[in-house]
Amino acid sequence: MLTLKGRDFLKFTDLSPAAVLELLHLAQQLKTGQIRPQCNQVLGLLFRKASTRTRVSFTVAMHRLGGQVIDLNPSATQVARGEPIEDTARVLDRYLDVLAIRTFDQGEVETFAHYAKIPVINALTDLEHPCQILADLLTVQETFGTLSSLSMTYLGDGNNVANSLLLGCASVGMDIAVACPQAYRPDPQIVAQAEAIAAGRSRVTVTDDPQAAVQGAHILYTDVWASMGQESQAESRLPIFAPYQINPSLLRQAHDQAIVLHCLPAHREEEITAEVIEGPQSRVWDQAENRLHAQQALLAAVLGLVP
Ligand code: CP
Ligand code: NVA
Repeated sequence: MLTLKGRDFLKFTDLSPAAVLELLHLAQQLKTGQIRPQCNQVLGLLFRKASTRTRVSFTVAMHRLGGQVIDLNPSATQVARGEPIEDTARVLDRYLDVLAIRTFDQGEVETFAHYAKIPVINALTDLEHPCQILADLLTVQETFGTLSSLSMTYLGDGNNVANSLLLGCASVGMDIAVACPQAYRPDPQIVAQAEAIAAGRSRVTVTDDPQAAVQGAHILYTDVWASMGQESQAESRLPIFAPYQINPSLLRQAHDQAIVLHCLPAHREEEITAEVIEGPQSRVWDQAENRLHAQQALLAAVLGLVP
């Protein structure tokens, strides 16, 4: 049974491989209405970056659990005026039952979690996006009925989504290949961690060769080429990342049952063509929906609402 009550989710490795599978099972039960845990607790959302999916799916998930949500827009709080995170964390800890943070520096969520006793959830940092990967794995499991024995290929920028995906795939025994330009490789420590978690059960590959990486893959995955905070590099990145675009020609080299994922928001004709994202192999809308179910499961688990 899940033993996540009171726990933080700051990096994907905060979940054991067994806990990942249990959370996915719980998410499926919530999605199908088999269980309806209820609470009267309060979730705070402290987001320093824009968000549609994460903000709304966390809000709806908490409402479905019977709880309430406070949107702590940093510019409307003392956070934007420089109140130390250590102080904010200790104060919010006295009001809230759980807090989700979206920010730039992974160190900020770690500091928050250190000073707050309530569960703290990483809702995206420059290093990781662990909640996204729970929804991605749920989508893959729904499609293929399994997670191990599959191969995932991520194409594009080796940043937050790629980092968490490496850890998530390794955790469930799925082969993961990340194809990206040399200068945009995933965090080397995270690659090493993924290799250690995979421990020879599954493969972890980082390459700059998109053609080689997609051969026979069951899932092709991409993300924006210039993430939030990197907008000034958007133009200069286009030619560097062009070979990594998911287009019909690249998709034909994957497994003939392959699906395509994108965490969204998408930039058509950049990292993915309109034909592919709107095509029959795209699962991006199911994937976006699954943010809701996966995060409802996570909230239920860290709040101790499930046995
Ligand atoms: N995928 C994702 O996290 O989307 P938002 O930035 O809209 O939350
Ligand atoms: N890598 C993207 C993910 C958005 C959900 C970003 O950080 O902007």
